Amino acid sequence: MNLLEINALNISYSKSRVPVVEDVSFFLPSGKILALVGESGCGKSLTGLAIMRLLPPGLEVTSGEILFQGKNILSLPPEEMRKIRGAKVAMIFQDPMVSLNPVFTVGTQIAEVLEWHKGLSHKEALAQAARLLAEVGIPAPESRLKAYPHELSGGMRQRVMIAMALAGDPLLLIADEPTTALDVTIQAQILALLATLREKRNLSILLISHDLGVVATLADYVAVMYAGRLVEKATCEELFSRPLHPYTKALLEVLPRPDKKELKPLPGQVPPPGARPKGCKFSDRCPIVRKVCLEKEPSWQEVAKGHLVRCFYASGA
Ligand SMILES: Nc1ncnc2c1ncn2[C@@H]1O[C@H](COP(=O)(O)OP(=O)(O)OP(=O)(O)O)[C@@H](O)[C@H]1O
Ligand SMILES: [Mg+2]
Repeated sequence: MNLLEINALNISYSKSRVPVVEDVSFFLPSGKILALVGESGCGKSLTGLAIMRLLPPGLEVTSGEILFQGKNILSLPPEEMRKIRGAKVAMIFQDPMVSLNPVFTVGTQIAEVLEWHKGLSHKEALAQAARLLAEVGIPAPESRLKAYPHELSGGMRQRVMIAMALAGDPLLLIADEPTTALDVTIQAQILALLATLREKRNLSILLISHDLGVVATLADYVAVMYAGRLVEKATCEELFSRPLHPYTKALLEVLPRPDKKELKPLPGQVPPPGARPKGCKFSDRCPIVRKVCLEKEPSWQEVAKGHLVRCFYASGA
């Protein structure tokens, strides 16, 4: 059984009913890393937030299933969801202000999670918090417990957020753009830390990023998202060796490589919800667009085992 399985998830604006995330399906086995990749505004964060049942006000899941350990979390009563959230399923949020409170020390904040989910006393929780800080590679963890978030560097803050996410011993970690705000060296260190945690804890990770380069070394599976829909799904190896969707190819074009002279960014922008083209959502930016693409939404084609693409002409025909 897959740890997480999402079937035909749809998220819309509650009032206007305008769809934002459409027909998203993927699965994540235990101990694996699935990267959800796409440009800004494609619906990556909303997909992650839906798994936590923390969609912002005004947005709601209109249909679909989110199976965690075989149970549809969308139909769990709120109190059962509260036990899972932050415990079995934890999230590192894209907006750091959501996760770290500037007025409390790091130790207090991690200890609070441990007291809540594990029923530890404050003293036990602080000792465990120090162990978690050590696990995420923070030097002198005991003294770091007394630090306030603003006293830490960006990389250290990210480690603290990971420690906090680990406090409830999650099986699934949703990491939303965990390295975007960091410089390249620190970025690599945080990615290495995630790889270690996956290994040691058999953690499953949903890694959200706009950068295919970031996920290349880490992910087992990749799902490429465009304008609210997944357009290509494959193992990481397969996706990089045989990218098929023109959008995936465009994302690869902008990755720097020693043998590449110039990077060719894809012109245009992701259309906002409500202004998406009628046929294929990518049709207004697609370099190989044809008439049928403007009229019909392509369905999934399985081009190899586990490699799916949603494009009429992906194979170059
Ligand atoms: N709180 C909100 N209220 C209204 N619209 C929202 C809200 N959050 C997201 N949206 C809209 O939903 C769409 C998807 O947003 P989402 O945050 O999931 O994108 P994303 O892929 O995570 O992008 P980014 O890379 O910028 O984080 C966007 O068009 C966005 O404007
Ligand atoms: Mg986001």
